[in-house]
Amino acid sequence: MRSLKRLLVAGGAGFIGSNFVRLLRKNRPEVEITVLDKLTYAGNPANLAEFEGGRGYRFVHGDICDSQLVDSIAAGVEAIVNFAAETHVDRSLMEPLAFIDTDVRGTAILCEAARKHAHEIFLLVSTDEVYGEVLDGRSREEDALKPRSPYSASKAGGEHIARAYAASFGLPLLVTRGSNTFGPYQYPEKLIPVLITNAIDGLPLPLYNDGSAVRDYVHVEDHCRAIDLVLHNAPLSDGVYNIGTGVETNGKQVANAVLEIMGKPKSLIEYVADRPGHDYRYAVDITRITELGWEPQVTFPEGLESTVRWYVDHQDWWRPLRSGEYWEYYKRNYRALTKPSA
Ligand code: NAD
Ligand code: TYD
Repeated sequence: MRSLKRLLVAGGAGFIGSNFVRLLRKNRPEVEITVLDKLTYAGNPANLAEFEGGRGYRFVHGDICDSQLVDSIAAGVEAIVNFAAETHVDRSLMEPLAFIDTDVRGTAILCEAARKHAHEIFLLVSTDEVYGEVLDGRSREEDALKPRSPYSASKAGGEHIARAYAASFGLPLLVTRGSNTFGPYQYPEKLIPVLITNAIDGLPLPLYNDGSAVRDYVHVEDHCRAIDLVLHNAPLSDGVYNIGTGVETNGKQVANAVLEIMGKPKSLIEYVADRPGHDYRYAVDITRITELGWEPQVTFPEGLESTVRWYVDHQDWWRPLRSGEYWEYYKRNYRALTKPSA
């Protein structure tokens, strides 16, 4: 059991990062947290508003690619947990270079600061997408990385750099590879919040191609508990941990379930042009994290129902996000499907 008193949470204003800060504040109030976040379109101070001004909490608005800033913050902490990344596959097909800057170079800058200041742990929050499309079986942590999108390739690049720092300089590295995550505070561009917010507004629910692509959806609270467990309890020798539920769900099943929960007609589903290079299946073997003592507590139906309720009850959170730039992106991504009044 590691006792970490001062943590840098990079990317803490995003979806999973802010849920992780919430979990830490609740379960480990003694930990001093510094959040460093660039506040890109996906970062939102509202996600962390409840902690502002609290003891042992500090927010720094800045970029993980700013090595001077990172170095000065790293001097005062014992460990870094890195959530900061460009994260959406469809955006990575439009602007790939931003992904390489943050997910590869930014990760390297954090590794360098952790090495220089002899941190106790560097935890890189990665993704099961680094394995690439897995049509059969389940990915194990030792499997080769075969990413196929600019997003997953840049996440794999960040992992390779971090592992090089571990091998070359003894960086105490832990990596988590989480599966598709859903729950409160997720920016409405990933599948589940797009479907829910569109259903609330009576807009078409877009499914790529025939909606048959399979994902393993893990609830954000389960994902954060797993990261917390790895951070505090995982031996450095195992290094990498898959996180997922083992349950496979395709897009059509997600859309049908959302519409059922909301009592809306199935006719809202609209099949649209496929994503280029679409990975049709991800599936992870979760033996290692299970043996560490984690198991998912939220089932997909329960988690989806509470998430739908959260978006229905928190329209003040997501409505401002669905404005100018969002609809530009939406139009570009979905082509024919646009805001009806636009
Ligand atoms: P998100 O897009 O909601 O949040 C990313 C955060 O990083 C935002 O607050 C953004 O402002 C910040 N950020 C981006 N570039 C930055 C930079 N250069 N410097 C500082 N901050 C920067 O993403 P998320 O869904 O919360 O994902 C968090 C992490 O978890 C990512 O590393 C992602 O690859 C990984 N992950 C996500 C999922 C998922 O399904 N969402 C699954 C597995 C792993
Ligand atoms: P997404 O949430 O973007 O995550 P991933 O990084 O795993 O691609 O997409 C999840 C799945 O849903 C994936 O198979 C692509 C599909 N999808 C749609 O069918 N329609 C959509 O509008 C989006 C955003 C995703």
